Parts: sequence; structure tokens; C-alpha cells
Amino acid sequence: MFKKDFIWGAASAAYQIEGGAFEDGKGPSVWDVFSHQPGNVLFNHNGDVSCDHYHKYKEDIALFKKLGIKNYRFSVSWPRIMPNGTGEVNPKGIEFYNNLINELLANGITPYMTLFHWDTPKALDNIGGWRNPAISDYFEEYARVIAENFGDRVKYFMTLNEPQSFMHGYRERTGMPPVAGFPICEMVPTIHNVLLAHGKAAKVLRELVPDAKIGLAPCGNYFYPLDENNPSDVEAARQLTMGISQDLEQLHWNISWYSDPIYLGSYPADQLEVYGKYLPDGWEEDLKIICQPLDFCGQNVYGGYPATMDENGKPMKCELPAGWTRLGNNAGTPVTPLSLKWATIFLYERYKLPILVCENGMACTDTVSVDGKVHDPQRIDYLHRYIKGIKEATEMGVDIMGYFVWSVMDVFEWSKGYSMRLGLIYVNYQTLERIPKDSAYWYKELMETNAENL
Ligand code: NOJ
Repeated sequence: MFKKDFIWGAASAAYQIEGGAFEDGKGPSVWDVFSHQPGNVLFNHNGDVSCDHYHKYKEDIALFKKLGIKNYRFSVSWPRIMPNGTGEVNPKGIEFYNNLINELLANGITPYMTLFHWDTPKALDNIGGWRNPAISDYFEEYARVIAENFGDRVKYFMTLNEPQSFMHGYRERTGMPPVAGFPICEMVPTIHNVLLAHGKAAKVLRELVPDAKIGLAPCGNYFYPLDENNPSDVEAARQLTMGISQDLEQLHWNISWYSDPIYLGSYPADQLEVYGKYLPDGWEEDLKIICQPLDFCGQNVYGGYPATMDENGKPMKCELPAGWTRLGNNAGTPVTPLSLKWATIFLYERYKLPILVCENGMACTDTVSVDGKVHDPQRIDYLHRYIKGIKEATEMGVDIMGYFVWSVMDVFEWSKGYSMRLGLIYVNYQTLERIPKDSAYWYKELMETNAENL
């Protein structure tokens, strides 16, 4: 049974839906530049127009309302608000988000605001981006502008979306700007800057919006027990999900390396032994800022792998059989409903905060059928199974406060461009027509009934 006040919602992000990329004084972000460099994005798509939500937000919100969406998670474009990332504030940017928030509230929809969903102002990228220790001060300055302008009406904030993913762009050479390929010794201080940025922003939001609920939306690699009834498989999944990454080069995808400092005020001891030597001077003091009181433990979960213990009693990832259903997005994540269930269990037992599932959804190649409708039984089945998973976790005592489907409508899917669709609402990128998919109506009923019929 879900709580009576369970938060059902749907989500989006600025660069993925807004368009208006160079309008009304907005500064360029790293994604504006990256998507225009040939070869970075499939078919060289970019977010210049995208869903044109910047101009169509009113009709979009009217459609959300019609589809029973009462909670909407969206992100603010930092360079729309501050074209250089610091200093000058763009009044037109403030006006856009004021209009958006007011329109949501007028339609009975609660705003859930993410401060940063990967669109780093290009001006800050030019001076080192997230590698520059000053980024945490710039982010704090931006958070102050957010709190002062929107904190009277917005009460739910997420500082960062998937730090693991945008750190991927610093670690690897594909998929995400700055495609830099930095070694682990440079990733450790960079991730530290990210954590400090979160802490400073959370602190300023708390000071200026005392009644706010504050958190963030990280991701990671997820594992679930091969046999749910086998305690040793449960332990294997726990260790792989929350412990040190087996592949030391993959530190940036770890969960606890990010979340322990944020929720517990310390880097995980086993990992500190390996990576501690790369942390910047004064990191212990910084932990006091990084670890701000938070109201929920947000997490984005799409899929993962089963785990068991090998013959030496070491946790082991199990491969999935050939042909297993996978998401068509960048990561090719396997569809494994148990990964969401067990992620909430492991996160709740470690951080002891109500869990907010900030993203979960299915990437498919949806099409408009001859009847003019978009039939997406795969997505309905995916959502059904994953939501059932969190229902089971709830019954096991996990405090889950809400769930957001990714995404409210089809969006620019980063380096996959418009080739992959995750939305509840189909977007025709030529005509900009919106068509609610079958899943949107299915989800409407689920929200109305608080998932009683699941
Ligand atoms: C997580 C990201 O936050 C979002 O931007 C992306 O579209 C989805 N994953 C799907 O890949």
C-alpha cells in the first residue's frame, strides 16, 4: 500500500525540452556547444528547438493537468538565469521560470525544481568547469538567486541531477561534455568540488527557504539479489550497490562515494583507503559543508544486474542472458524491476531518509499508429513492474515518499538525440504536436487510484 499522500509525478530537464537555446539573453551551456560539434550527437541533433517548451509551456501544463499530473519535476537552465554562470542575472530568464511556476500552481501542479541538470554555463566551462574549485562558490551564488526569486512558491528542491553522469563526461571521452578522459587522480578532487557545490547550495536554500524540502537526484550502478530469498545474494547485491566499485577506474559511477559524504558526513572508509590520497587539502573541513541536513534521499533508477556470491564468498555480478530487454537510451540499461525495489531498500537502510524516486522510465522507439494514437505497451509493462517493486519495498518497511516517471514528454535524449523516446506524451519534432501515449492514460488511472489496482 502506498501512503495516502504519496507523491506521484513526472519529470523533465531544461536542455532536453525547452529549446529557445539562444533566446532572450540566455548564455550558452556546454550542451549548446557540444551538440553543435558534428559527430557528438546521433544524427547531429541538438536542443535548439527541442519540444519548444520555452514557448509552449502553457499548453504543456494544460495537458499535464488533463493527464492528472499533480507533481512536476523540471530543471532550471543555469545559463538562462545567469548567462555567465556568475554575476549578471538575466531578467528574462527569471521571468520565464516565474511564468512556468505560476502556471503550474494555477493548475494545481506542485513544482519540484532541480537546480542543475548538466547544462553547465559555457563561460564557467571555459575556466575549468567542475574541475575549478571556485565552481562551488558559483553554484552557491546561483542557488541564492534561485532561492530569492522562486523560494516563495517552490518548496521542493533538488540541487544536482545525476552527478555520476556528468562526471562521466570528465572521466570518459564519449557521450557527455567535456569528453575529457581525466584520470582517477583528477576525478577525485573534481567530484569533491561537485559535493561541495551541493552542500553550499543546500545550505543557502535552507537559510532562505526554511520550509523547503531539499535533496538531490544521484544515480549509480544497481544490483539486486539473484535469489531474493537467499541472504547471501542479498548481501552480495548490497555490497556491489553500496560498496566500492569492483572496477576502480569506475569510481565516478559509485553511489556511496557521493552519497556517504552528503548524508553521513564521511567518505566511505574502504574507498578512502584507495582514493583518499587524491583529495584536496582541507577535505575534512569541507565535509561539514557537504553534509547538510536533507529531507529526502532522491535517486534515479532505470535498471541493474543480479548479484550472488562467488565460490570465494566475494560478491559477483551475474550476466543477463542474450536478448534480455534493454533500454534504447545511451546506457542500454537492462530492464530489471528488482533493481528499483532493492535500490530503495539498500538506500533506506544506509541513509535512513524517505526515498524519492526522482526518475524511472522506459526508452523505446514509439511511433504514431494508423489510428493516430501512440500505443506503448512495453512502457506500461515496465512502469507496472517497477512500481510493483517499490510497492513490495514499502511493504518491507521502506519509507518511499514519491515516484516520478521519466519523462513527462519525449525529450532530447542527450547523445542519442531525438532517436529515443521516454515520454508519457509523444512529441512530433516537425510539427511540435503532442500526443499522450497509452501509458499517459494508464499512469493517470494509477495516480488517481494511488496504485491500488497494481
Ligand atoms: C537520466 C537523466 O537524468 C535524464 O536526463 C535522461 O534523459 C534519462 N536518464 C534517460 O536516459
